Amino acid sequence: YPKARLFSFCSRCKTKVYPDELPNTSVVIVFHNEAWSTLLRTVYSVINRSPRYLLSEVILVDDASERDFLKLTLENYVKNLEVPVKIIRMEERSGLIRARLRGAAASKGQVITFLDAHCECTLGWLEPLLARIKEDRKTVVCPIIDVISDDTFEYMAGSDMTYGGFNWKLNFRWYPVPQREMDRRKGDRTLPVRTPTMAGGLFSIDRNYFEEIGTYDAGMDIWGGENLEMSFRIWQCGGSLEIVTCSHVGHVFRKATPYTFPGGTGHVINKNNRRLAEVWMDEFKDFFYIISPGVVKVDYGDVSVRKTLRENLKCKPFSWYLENIYPDSQIPRRYYSLGEIRNVETNQCLDNMGRKENEKVGIFNCHGMGGNQVFSYTADKEIRTDDLCLDVSRLSGPVIMLKCHHMRGNQLWEYDAERLTLRHVNSNQCLDEPSEEDKMVPTMQDCSGSRSQQWLLRNMTLGA
Ligand SMILES: *[C@@H]1O[C@H](CO)[C@@H](O)[C@H](O)[C@H]1NC(C)=O
Ligand SMILES: *[C@@H]1O[C@H](CO)[C@@H](O)[C@H](O)[C@H]1NC(C)=O
Repeated sequence: YPKARLFSFCSRCKTKVYPDELPNTSVVIVFHNEAWSTLLRTVYSVINRSPRYLLSEVILVDDASERDFLKLTLENYVKNLEVPVKIIRMEERSGLIRARLRGAAASKGQVITFLDAHCECTLGWLEPLLARIKEDRKTVVCPIIDVISDDTFEYMAGSDMTYGGFNWKLNFRWYPVPQREMDRRKGDRTLPVRTPTMAGGLFSIDRNYFEEIGTYDAGMDIWGGENLEMSFRIWQCGGSLEIVTCSHVGHVFRKATPYTFPGGTGHVINKNNRRLAEVWMDEFKDFFYIISPGVVKVDYGDVSVRKTLRENLKCKPFSWYLENIYPDSQIPRRYYSLGEIRNVETNQCLDNMGRKENEKVGIFNCHGMGGNQVFSYTADKEIRTDDLCLDVSRLSGPVIMLKCHHMRGNQLWEYDAERLTLRHVNSNQCLDEPSEEDKMVPTMQDCSGSRSQQWLLRNMTLGA
């Protein structure tokens, strides 16, 4: 690996002083058919850039790799390293979740640090993480994830201005750190960022707390969804989740994964997502189901053990999480409708037609199947589908789908539940049926009270 990197990510981080007495950590790394160079780069960077007394051991969990050099060659190699490196072999492909559970069970450190197998820890990565856990053992901490190019291995510092969120499809996404979180830290960017969710690959957690809070959902397969499950669980059950901005770990972002998903990627992730929606999201799981209606057919197994865990830990409802931890979520805490928006005269429905950001919203025959025809009119008076909001920036349209910005402005709509009109506040015009020129998109017209300007907003029920 390249010679020591001394980053000046943030000069004020360099002068921070951490307590001498920090808890020690086991580092658990799961790998499956990992390349020799990237795996060893991860291990060496852990050993060389962690104070020896803070590093209890490195545990490598082999999730049934097939490559020969990952067998005896690896075992012999790690014997010569100056830190104990334990190798655990899964008997069969078990996936990240079960392999991490095995590694955690074998670990002895006071803290468990999970890393991916293609990382590079930077100098000073560990102390800020452990110091935060020492301050509050119920805080689960993530480093800033720097980007290592999978083409050139170029190293690029990650941003301390984004944090973890998710969309209606339950995909993890990075979003800008909102102003309220900047304000809470009084502008001190060396203080940890409270993040609604984590990416999942890299984090540290107090060993006992990991047990108390219910480790992972062992009913989940392979990979996917476990990071959101853990994020919701930590917040709802009294812990907190933070990005420690003075800790940097590089990660190789791969275009292709050597992982295979027995049963198909989509199926595995849908199953895992259903488990987390059923256990943690209460009625807000509807957002997930309605936007991806095929998912309800996926069998998700038995979640009773996880529901009991939620009860025993006296965890708070998902609405509490949305209100207090993630008010800028793509899922609105309060809303008027979640379902189709149907024109009274033509009986057609708003439809995003699989279009993307910056394109016009469409209109099409109503199909009642959710997906592209699902919009929510929120208590903040946005008309949104997932993270896109209907936006009008000129008199007489067009009506574009843009990233929701929560700033009202061009995304503010007034629904009159008696007249059934959707009035765009800034332009004072009403949403209307398509014109003769383009029958696929709605238009904006002066409000006239005509039937073509009347819209029914529904709460759709699943399977209806
Ligand atoms: C980790 O810390 C605990 C508590 O101080 C200690 O008992 C244990 O020996 C340490 N482990 C290692 C490997 O340093
Ligand atoms: C739709 O459901 C939401 C959430 O349960 C509720 O607050 C709202 O009043 C409902 N709207 C209609 C039109 O029934």
